[in-house]
Amino acid sequence: MKAFKGKTAVVTGAASGIGRSLALAFAGRGANVVMADVEAGSLAAARDQVAAIGGEVIDVPTDVTKEGQVFALADKAWDRFGAVHVVCNNAGVLIRGDTLDAERKDWEWILGVNLWGVIHGVRAFVPRMRDSDEEGHIVNTASEAGHFAGDGYGVYNTSKFAVVGLTESLARDLRNTRIGVSMLCPGQVETGIFTNTNRPEDYQKDAEDAPMDRRVAENVMEPDDVAAKVIAGIEAGALYVFSHEDEARLLIDKRNGRIMRAVGG
Ligand SMILES: NC(=O)c1ccc[n+]([C@@H]2O[C@H](COP(=O)([O-])OP(=O)(O)OC[C@H]3O[C@@H](n4cnc5c(N)ncnc54)[C@H](O)[C@@H]3O)[C@@H](O)[C@H]2O)c1
Repeated sequence: MKAFKGKTAVVTGAASGIGRSLALAFAGRGANVVMADVEAGSLAAARDQVAAIGGEVIDVPTDVTKEGQVFALADKAWDRFGAVHVVCNNAGVLIRGDTLDAERKDWEWILGVNLWGVIHGVRAFVPRMRDSDEEGHIVNTASEAGHFAGDGYGVYNTSKFAVVGLTESLARDLRNTRIGVSMLCPGQVETGIFTNTNRPEDYQKDAEDAPMDRRVAENVMEPDDVAAKVIAGIEAGALYVFSHEDEARLLIDKRNGRIMRAVGG
């Protein structure tokens, strides 16, 4: 896709961080925007910010772990705008800790949002977009953590590796259609993900989540700059969109080296 004017973009996790920046970027290019998030209050505030740019914007409070709510989101988008051209399955949550420290509720929550949220988004939107025969694009937010399993993020890494596999498969399945596919793989971005405590009720557990100290990185990127890379990636039809290419190259090279050695390469 090269032009966004008059097109419709749907963004999940749009109340803050990368999602809000994506919504701002699409609106800035003349697109209609459908903003979804589980945090209704901050979503409404973010909608007002995006609407201030001009263009048509609606906010649809949505818990992406719930299939019915994601299908209802799709219905609202089609009812309001008549077509959907871009879907960013971007909502995501993070916990720290070793794999064996995670409780079942932790697994269910992180996989519920980061993986099932994307699966529901793909199933709710993509068949209808493909069948419309209009040009379109899907962006699934994975992470650098979907290509390299760093220490202390076992559950999160698991969810993001799954999103990478899903998105590579989807790209193959859609290669003879007018729907492009990208995965966004950020390094560290200046957002609320380290402090957001928004477990939906089903995923509450007795113990408090351990406080998260931020990773210390010198090259923390602003979410608006990540959104600009996503726009460029959609325009280029790029499957992989990294925010921190140099860092990602080192990590992926390290992992690939280990794998190649294991297979005698
Ligand atoms: N910030 C980073 O350093 C970083 C790095 C790699 C990947 N990512 C990924 O980027 C995406 C966006 O995260 P962000 O950094 O902008 O964080 P963020 O916390 O600012 O934004 C995530 C948004 O998702 C929403 N959300 C959480 N659970 C939801 C649910 N059940 N249904 C709907 N919305 C829900 C939150 O309310 C929040 O507004 C995530 O998928 C995250 O894993 C972020």
